[in-house]
Amino acid sequence: MQTEFLQIQSPDDARLAHIGQCLQSGGLCAIPTETVYGLAANALDGEAVRKIFAAKGRPQDNPLIVHIAELAQLPPLVREIPDAAYALAKAYWPGPLTMILPKADCIPDAVSCGLATVAIRMPSHPIARAIIRAAGVPLAAPSANTSGKPSPTTAQHVLRDMDGKIDMIVDGGQSDVGVESTVVTLCTDPPRLLRPGGITLRQLRTVLGAVDVDKAVLGELTAGEKPSSPGMKYKHYSPDADVKLVKGTTAQFAQYAKQYPTEKTAIVCFDGEEKEFENVTFSIGAPDDGNAHAHAVFDVLRTVDTHGFETALVHCPGDDGVDLAVLNRLLRAAAFQVIDLHSF
Ligand code: TXA
Ligand code: MG
Repeated sequence: MQTEFLQIQSPDDARLAHIGQCLQSGGLCAIPTETVYGLAANALDGEAVRKIFAAKGRPQDNPLIVHIAELAQLPPLVREIPDAAYALAKAYWPGPLTMILPKADCIPDAVSCGLATVAIRMPSHPIARAIIRAAGVPLAAPSANTSGKPSPTTAQHVLRDMDGKIDMIVDGGQSDVGVESTVVTLCTDPPRLLRPGGITLRQLRTVLGAVDVDKAVLGELTAGEKPSSPGMKYKHYSPDADVKLVKGTTAQFAQYAKQYPTEKTAIVCFDGEEKEFENVTFSIGAPDDGNAHAHAVFDVLRTVDTHGFETALVHCPGDDGVDLAVLNRLLRAAAFQVIDLHSF
């Protein structure tokens, strides 16, 4: 398949009709969003949605998020809308927040993978919203990476994973947030955070009061344990390089890194630490700037691979604010390998 590549800078671009047409007629189209790039298909067309799984190599039991452009699109997709959903929508939609709600019958099994619930998000990226409007239907869209790889934050990342496998890629510039949306289920009491993202736990609690944090957010599921969100059980976000998370001071980290061959080992650190290492370093921003870490993390993991490094030693961020999302992604990229130098 020849993949069409379109650069779209304005939500008024006349080519949006062509993109909408492609989606309406069952095509696959990678679209920019403020979190990461999504691989979109008509959410109400089970056959179109199944093609997403094939292009990504995604496990068949991992359900998709349905994207809408306005609140009026929500009621037909769900069985009921609790007050909490309206409150969250008012506070954080459009934006990097996904709500799990009881699903309506029109949601094909290919989207919900047999669950009685459906994930819904209203993205804030103006091109994403214009594409949903042009398609005239809600769009199912997982991140537009090959399953297991770091999520794409630029159209070039998507091209590397999806060229020849999908109908089109829309380049709308670099994703602003850089990690996927926060996923919260409103089908439990209290609501529960399933995946941390750009909307922080504190922001959720401001609106909802009590919010539980699923143990899979920072912990590893034990064999056979049933996850609350199917996506949590899969190996995720992994570059080819072996990733290890390192906790400790800059000096401890620099000392620890010496046992690895310099040319084969990349250091992922914070601004100001670079000079302590003999290795190639990639900074993800100032030590306490969670937004910067989120913006940079997937691009850095992909860059480590394009440079052919065998190992990436990553200075472990904290768990406050947006850093909880960064830590969640890095723990998975590292397959939970954490070296704690504080305890030496
Ligand atoms: O920011 C985002 O959310 C991006 C952009 C493209 O919008 N999309 C994204 O989709 O990250 P994906 O498929 O990579 O992640 C969706 C996550 C998975 O972990 C999946 O298991 C979970 O949401 N999920 C979807 N439907 C669910 C449901 N009904 N119940 C629990 N978890 C669900
Ligand atoms: Mg994904």
